[in-house]
Amino acid sequence: MYLLIDEKGREYLVKGTSDVHTNYGVIKAEKLRKENVGKTIESHTRRRFFLLEPGILDFIRKAKRGPQTITLKDCALIAGYTGIRSGSRVVDAGTGSGILAMFLANIVSPEKLVTYEIREDFAEIARENFQKSNLRNIEIKSKNIYDGIDERNLDLITLDLAEPWRVVEHAKEALKVGGFLVSYSPSIEQSKKFYDALTGFQSETVECLLRNWDMKVVRPYSRVLGHTGFLTFARLIEK
Ligand SMILES: C[S@@+](CC[C@H](N)C(=O)[O-])C[C@H]1O[C@@H](n2cnc3c(N)ncnc32)[C@H](O)[C@@H]1O
Repeated sequence: MYLLIDEKGREYLVKGTSDVHTNYGVIKAEKLRKENVGKTIESHTRRRFFLLEPGILDFIRKAKRGPQTITLKDCALIAGYTGIRSGSRVVDAGTGSGILAMFLANIVSPEKLVTYEIREDFAEIARENFQKSNLRNIEIKSKNIYDGIDERNLDLITLDLAEPWRVVEHAKEALKVGGFLVSYSPSIEQSKKFYDALTGFQSETVECLLRNWDMKVVRPYSRVLGHTGFLTFARLIEK
């Protein structure tokens, strides 16, 4: 895969196997080669394009969306507040479009990340996204996580589903002591019910509001993304 950026900053994620039709003309497939990565190439109308190797954030931005996905700021917070790294053992549920799974799998690689999903149509969307992003260390399990977690000795379990409190007892068995159970919920009622179900965990709940600035006029953009969700970080301190 290749990432093309035009003079206006528009991005195109392409395979490189066929000509690319853009707002600024056609780019011939033969120009999309490894040797040209890092260089600028031209369309048939002589408009300039930057050719880059795409990274995980490009794949996430361009991923196909099915159910509501988690935002990058919330993904980043999960990684930052749990300290996961290459080799960490992670289970995620539900998969949805697979955005959080991709973000975390990129960090824990080469360790495998397991993600649970009950709906085959959503699993199919996620599978397609994983395939495109070249991540090979994700396993989708067609399983209801409320029925239990097969994996053991986990560093992190992430939940983005309606009734996270139903996973707490399973998570206690599956996590190592010191590991984290993290739940992302749009409503504070869900977060409170989850919090009330936590025993043996140390926890904190946060909400992250992010404001982007327009540096041409040096003020915040007037349209901002408001509330997304609450994140509860629960660290298992005793089994
Ligand atoms: C909001 S989406 C998750 C989005 C995902 N975090 C992402 O970043 O793309 C919630 C998903 O959880 C799945 N789900 C709901 N309950 C589940 C359960 N008990 N076990 C496994 N998956 C479940 C739903 O089918 C849905 O695909």
